[in-house]
Amino acid sequence: MGNPNRSKAEKGIMRWVDDRMAVTQAWEDHLSKYYAPKNFNFWYFFGSLAMLVLVNQIVTGIWLTMSYNPSAEGAFASIEYIMRDVEYGWLLRYLHSTGASAFFVVVYLHMFRGMMYGSYRNPRELLWLFGMAIYLALMAEAFMGYLLPWGQMSYWGAQVIISLFGAIPVVGADLQQWIRGDYLISGITLNRFFALHVIALPIVLLALVVLHILALHEVGSNNPDGIEIKKNKDEKGIPLDGIPFHPYYSVKDIVGVVVFLFIFCVVVFFFPEGGGYMLEAPNFEPANSLKTPNHIAPVWYFTPFYAMLRAVTYPLFGVDAKLWGVIVMGAGIAVLFVLPWLDRSPVKSIRYKGMISKVMLAVFAVSFVVLGVCGALPPASQPAWLAPVATVAYFVFFLAMPWYSKIDSTKPVPERVTG
Ligand code: HEM
Repeated sequence: MGNPNRSKAEKGIMRWVDDRMAVTQAWEDHLSKYYAPKNFNFWYFFGSLAMLVLVNQIVTGIWLTMSYNPSAEGAFASIEYIMRDVEYGWLLRYLHSTGASAFFVVVYLHMFRGMMYGSYRNPRELLWLFGMAIYLALMAEAFMGYLLPWGQMSYWGAQVIISLFGAIPVVGADLQQWIRGDYLISGITLNRFFALHVIALPIVLLALVVLHILALHEVGSNNPDGIEIKKNKDEKGIPLDGIPFHPYYSVKDIVGVVVFLFIFCVVVFFFPEGGGYMLEAPNFEPANSLKTPNHIAPVWYFTPFYAMLRAVTYPLFGVDAKLWGVIVMGAGIAVLFVLPWLDRSPVKSIRYKGMISKVMLAVFAVSFVVLGVCGALPPASQPAWLAPVATVAYFVFFLAMPWYSKIDSTKPVPERVTG
């Protein structure tokens, strides 16, 4: 494709294919003639890494499914069988369980990059919305996957989350039963979560990732300067600050992949339980509906939102604390969807924004991490004010943005991208 050294036969085959399906055209549009800004930095590795982790999850997931038994009677034992008897089963499982955490690390950094450089702003709002849809699907995928080992934390974690739907007025109780397919979490629930985890949600995720990339390639990538490179083109219509994605970034991304795989393998081979935060201690015991674990906490990537849920302890306006908790937690995710319409700054990138925006972005990052820690620890082991304060700080970042992004000072944005 586009290679002048190709033999006559190869050219003939390619022409035959191209006459029937525009493969060369697609290759050029999305790779060899897709012009990306030349100033991508470290933060731009995470999109391709998210794709790598997605492939890892799908491939290891297919192989795990070959030996996994999706029934209340057999699930726990089949995981033990995979770990002990299946050839390299332990590796498959650890690649998959570590991959789940890696997915969220990579996606959180990817999202934060977008927030730093204003990548959600016009004309990339749809790209951001597809990203958010991916994030929701990913959370559902991880939640359902966590029930499958049928350990104590699988069971009780699912119990806590499904019971949240019970807080919804009028329909709550019916909804809960509809999700479980039973009066309590049972093999029926396990079966449907299995179907959704291995078939439905991966299809949705893959489709959304394709839409995400198509939306990106329609408008082109943003960059650390937040400048539209399409504004400065040469006489052939090629952005002056753009370089072809392939080979320049396809090769550069390999650097990210190597560094990522190094860290990933260290975790897989030496710390697969992640200190009890990736594979939790109660999950080494089979699910028991009569024995509640002492401390129920979701896996680390959900803990910021779990902390918001727990931060609300007072009823208000006749609405009980649990429902408020659910509303606040839902709003914590929902507010990210409207981010493109909250930012009124005349500049995109944090590089050219003023002190208020920089401080607020730091407040957001710190509050998210603090919430994550609060959500992971038992309530008794933390000051009662910490999670509520962090929750307020989290929301102030978003809800005050239309105001502070407008009045904040800005630095002049250069015409062309900087180094
Ligand atoms: C499976 C998960 C995801 C995959 C595979 C994925 C993939 C990608 C890729 C390959 C890029 C281009 C390279 C790059 O800019 O890093 C990209 C860009 C982008 N993604 Fe994602 N993404 C995912 C999730 C998300 C999420 C959850 C969001 C936000 C809610 C998001 C928002 C964006 C934005 C705003 C850009 C453009 C960034 C810019 O041009 O500065 N993505 N994504």
